[in-house]
Amino acid sequence: MPTARSTPNIAFIKYWGNRFDALRIPMADSVSMTLDAPTVEIDLDHAEVLGVQSFASDGSERSLKEKDIARFQKHLDFTKRYLEHLGVPNAIPASVTITIRSAIPPAIGLASSAAVFSCLARAYQGLISPTIALTDKQTSIIARLGSGSAARSIFGGFTALIAGEGDAIDSAYGEQCAQEKHWPLHDIVVVPSMEEKTVGSTEGHATAHTSPFYPARITAITTRRQQACVDAVLTRDFEKLQAVAEEDSLDMHHVMETSDPPLQYLSGETHRIIHEVESLRRQRHLPVLYTMDAGPTVHLVCTEEAAGAIRDFAHAQKDCQVFETKVGGGAHLV
Ligand code: DP6
Repeated sequence: MPTARSTPNIAFIKYWGNRFDALRIPMADSVSMTLDAPTVEIDLDHAEVLGVQSFASDGSERSLKEKDIARFQKHLDFTKRYLEHLGVPNAIPASVTITIRSAIPPAIGLASSAAVFSCLARAYQGLISPTIALTDKQTSIIARLGSGSAARSIFGGFTALIAGEGDAIDSAYGEQCAQEKHWPLHDIVVVPSMEEKTVGSTEGHATAHTSPFYPARITAITTRRQQACVDAVLTRDFEKLQAVAEEDSLDMHHVMETSDPPLQYLSGETHRIIHEVESLRRQRHLPVLYTMDAGPTVHLVCTEEAAGAIRDFAHAQKDCQVFETKVGGGAHLV
């Protein structure tokens, strides 16, 4: 019975919108840093029918909604379809029991689906290893079938989600750009609200195309931003990373806010924190950047030298919860 462990990632170039929603095949490439915390652990076992149980870090059981269970069932079905495509249709048994232990508060912009589905994909890789030895790229495809951004948490360090071409099940996949030890960046996560968001990413992706600013976003990523971001990571150029990551995050939120229906994930608190970070950066010349996913949470990514000051800043924010993370090693079997 395999057990896998994984963590979220924070994107510098954001994945937003698909060219094929059902299979989560993105419109454009994205790139992220895998974090070292908080952790998700999954045990997987053979079963006749699907069973999913989820526990918080204090051991209490989290009740799963019907739509959550349906997502795991759909993921299993797609995983089987992918294994058929690889020529091993019988690698997975009729069904599985999935036991999740997660230290991530759900739906607060801390990429819990990325951690869960990268973890589950790694566990599936372990479960079927007697039949087939999946590569990390293949495992990232299984992760993507559950949550697009999960493809990136299969790898440690800095990872791109390559959009590829066409609508085949394996056309989009994760690809590591640099290992964890390449650049010891920190992500100090400031959470102004612990309320669950009302519109999840999956529903949001489906409306991305309705924004009049979406085509320009895709062009900017494919012609310039993705490459600039990968270059910034490879050369450890923080100023360049900051410029392109902040531009891309604000651009994604502009697309969200101009979609039909509009999606407003950022709050007044988010904007207040951003402005304070900008003035702190101006005063003290700190290498720190901000980036926000689908929620009001602000990720403050900084270098090791700035981490102390950013930590102090984060803990001084009133009524905010703070998670301290740094670059991590990605999904693995334990
Ligand atoms: C804003 O991967 O969470 O965090 O495939 O529906 O699970 P699903 O979407 P998801 O989308 C990520 C959106 C984002 C940006 C990013 O992480 O790249």
